[in-house]
Amino acid sequence: MRSPESTSWHPASWHGKPAQQQPAYGDPAALEQVVAELSRLPPIVVSWEIEALRERLAAAQRGQAFLLQGGDCAETFHDCESDSIAKKLKILLQMSLVLLHGLKKPVIRVGRMAGQYAKPRSADTETREGMTLPSFRGDLVNRPEFTPEARQADPQLLLRGYERAALTLNFVRALVDGGFADLHHPEYWDLGFVKHAPLKDAYQRIVQSIGDALDFFEGISGRRVHEATLVDFYASHEGLHLLYEQAQTRFIPRQNRWYNLSTHMPWIGMRTAKLDGAHVEYFRGISNPIGIKIGSAMDAAWLQGLIATLNPQNQPGRVTLIHRFGVKDIDSALPKMIEAVRQSGQTVLWVCDPMHGNTETSTAGFKTRRFENILKEVDLAFRIHAELGSRLGGVHIELTGDDVTECTGGARGLTDADLQRAYRSTVDPRLNHEQALELAMLIAERSQNRRLAHV
Ligand code: PEP
Ligand code: CO
Repeated sequence: MRSPESTSWHPASWHGKPAQQQPAYGDPAALEQVVAELSRLPPIVVSWEIEALRERLAAAQRGQAFLLQGGDCAETFHDCESDSIAKKLKILLQMSLVLLHGLKKPVIRVGRMAGQYAKPRSADTETREGMTLPSFRGDLVNRPEFTPEARQADPQLLLRGYERAALTLNFVRALVDGGFADLHHPEYWDLGFVKHAPLKDAYQRIVQSIGDALDFFEGISGRRVHEATLVDFYASHEGLHLLYEQAQTRFIPRQNRWYNLSTHMPWIGMRTAKLDGAHVEYFRGISNPIGIKIGSAMDAAWLQGLIATLNPQNQPGRVTLIHRFGVKDIDSALPKMIEAVRQSGQTVLWVCDPMHGNTETSTAGFKTRRFENILKEVDLAFRIHAELGSRLGGVHIELTGDDVTECTGGARGLTDADLQRAYRSTVDPRLNHEQALELAMLIAERSQNRRLAHV
């Protein structure tokens, strides 16, 4: 069996392979200095948290937990401020509560947070009015303004991103530890600007019902349900910028393994999953649980190659496959992928990303997604997995805790005309607070109905 040791893996061995989506830096010496500095800084997460997450994902593979992974398409340095982070944490916690209630199983909460600063682009350059400049690749790399200075890749941004990732997770940890998510204090669970009354009422009933269940349990057991059982929170980001990931890759002697300590769960994006590419080379040597995005371009042999290379020991919890086919393609594409994994004999966690296959452009030119397509893809994913004897074990959502208008539909019926009102994303359109909560409600309700239909 192939192990990193037997094939001379090390954190920089990916340099020998073709690396997609890496920025071109003008000053290699400055870049090297930054990477050296990053390598000396203390880690953002530690190996035992990573192992705890892997075990929880293994439970999700057995059907004993459900993964909720969500956050911005791209975090921005500007939004690294308390209100924005607290709101994002809050919507994820609220969604997880609704899912816990509806699915009757623990929910593993993983933010696209604390390091989601680098973006893949379909082209290396962008041309406007005759001027061609490097594409904007996220705040970790360059700046979005269309000027030569702003688009120049700046190595210092790697340090600024790392610092902000640490600040973000530090604040999240403090909120979570400080009782922000304690169900004994439902006043923390209020809905802010969610105005839609039926949604608000349904949510309040769920909070009340969980609070009652907790009181009942604590009443008969005489023990307080410890907060920690309710509020684990993990970080994830696309492991795209390989020098950034490499710099925080450490050998942990106690575990006798390598870990990426910049996040709990990095994932391989759809554009960088080539079997013989640098990203797969890097990912095969780290011990974190990893995600792999799967789109319609991937075939059975490719997927089988990926899981064999990335999880040769078939370790539980190691591989999460995040499929993002879009509502039009999921019917034809997903069954083949499920069959490919079955043939390989490997255990994976299946997660549906109903966002990235459903992006379209509004008549006014806004990149948007329709709530009904997002919901429909999740529905189809549940159904197809169940019909084929597989199991959907999670969802991966782009969302924000703010009141933006980037996706259409939902209970308040946002239309194309509303998009201009509060369109803030520089990359993909996100569900706003209300739409995200509604999606969780509908997933929970439909799962309950499916369960009832089977008894
Ligand atoms: C993303 O998750 O923002 C993304 C770019 O996804 P994908 O790699 O699936 O296109
Ligand atoms: Co995105």
